[in-house]
Amino acid sequence: SSKSEDSLRSPICCIMGHVDTGKTKLLDCIRGTNVQEGEAGGITQQIGATYFPAENIRERTKELKADAKLKVPGLLVIDTPGHESFTNLRSRGSGLCDIAILVVDITHGLEPQTIESLNLLKMRNTEFVVALNKIDRLYGWKVCRNAPIVKAMKQQSKDVQFEFNTRLTQIVTQFKEQGINTELYYKNKEMGKDTFSIIPTSAISGEGIPDLLLLLVQWTQKTMVDRLTYSSECTVLEVKAIEGHGTTIDVVLINGILHEGDQIIVCGMQDPIVTSIRALLTPHPMKELRIKGSYLHHKEIKAAQSIKINAQGLEHAIAGTSLYVVGPDDDVENVKEAAMED
Ligand code: GTP
Ligand code: MG
Ligand code: NA
Repeated sequence: SSKSEDSLRSPICCIMGHVDTGKTKLLDCIRGTNVQEGEAGGITQQIGATYFPAENIRERTKELKADAKLKVPGLLVIDTPGHESFTNLRSRGSGLCDIAILVVDITHGLEPQTIESLNLLKMRNTEFVVALNKIDRLYGWKVCRNAPIVKAMKQQSKDVQFEFNTRLTQIVTQFKEQGINTELYYKNKEMGKDTFSIIPTSAISGEGIPDLLLLLVQWTQKTMVDRLTYSSECTVLEVKAIEGHGTTIDVVLINGILHEGDQIIVCGMQDPIVTSIRALLTPHPMKELRIKGSYLHHKEIKAAQSIKINAQGLEHAIAGTSLYVVGPDDDVENVKEAAMED
């Protein structure tokens, strides 16, 4: 492609799947955090977002010796709840991503919200990879902490390899019953064409995590250059009151740039809210947006990023709608109309 490399934005990846398959734990494993254990009942009840800078991805994947071509600035990962009552949040998450990770528990196979997630992805034609998680629960699994999966698999006994292959074959069949072809990623030459890749992982001991990260980045870079070039797009995730900041909105900047002072328009309960950005805040890199912590202040932010915006009049903003920036050539009335169409 002729597109200049520094014009590429970060891809957005949504992590989806049935409750307790290990979505949040996988992110904890990558971040080196412990968000999952702090969740009420161990259940995710909000959309989360974490930015992984390219340098962290490079570090985490270096054992695969394929780090040469990281062209995107990083990867923004959106965590979604798997509990059945949160279909709207899964839908919102899948609606804003470039690519998805569908997490399946290798000991359970496909479950109701796996299939629901799969249908959301099919409906939007979203490419995805399958993380076949909890491989450390195969009886007799020998831990190879954070190792690439092929290396870890070679360390396993014949019995473990047999159990793995049996469960894999069953799950590939279950996907086929849903009209989806899947294959282990390192055997999948057709990647992204008609066959979706499966990456075995453990969120507890980290096997397969390097493979997962590398695949996401390489694949989005290779297939989505047009989607990853800048133009303005932003979605409101949550509206919340934060001590010391008043009412703020958590947004995902999917594409484009936001500046402190930008005039923005957000869909409100009754009327469009026209306001200007007082503060652009982000959590520190590798930290979860939904967890309280200290925030970094920015003069401008490029996509993709999860951002907390502080501005006047956001009390009646509606989550799930788009945020619009009023450009120098835009007519405020037109932008207001667009905002209320959400
Ligand atoms: P929801 O967001 O509530 O849908 O769940 P989730 O998919 O985010 O799963 P979560 O990260 O909450 O993990 C559920 C449980 O599975 C926790 O007790 C985790 O410790 C455990 N778990 C997650 N991944 C693994 C894994 O790879 N191996 C093992 N042994 N346990 C895991
Ligand atoms: Mg979770
Ligand atoms: Na959970």
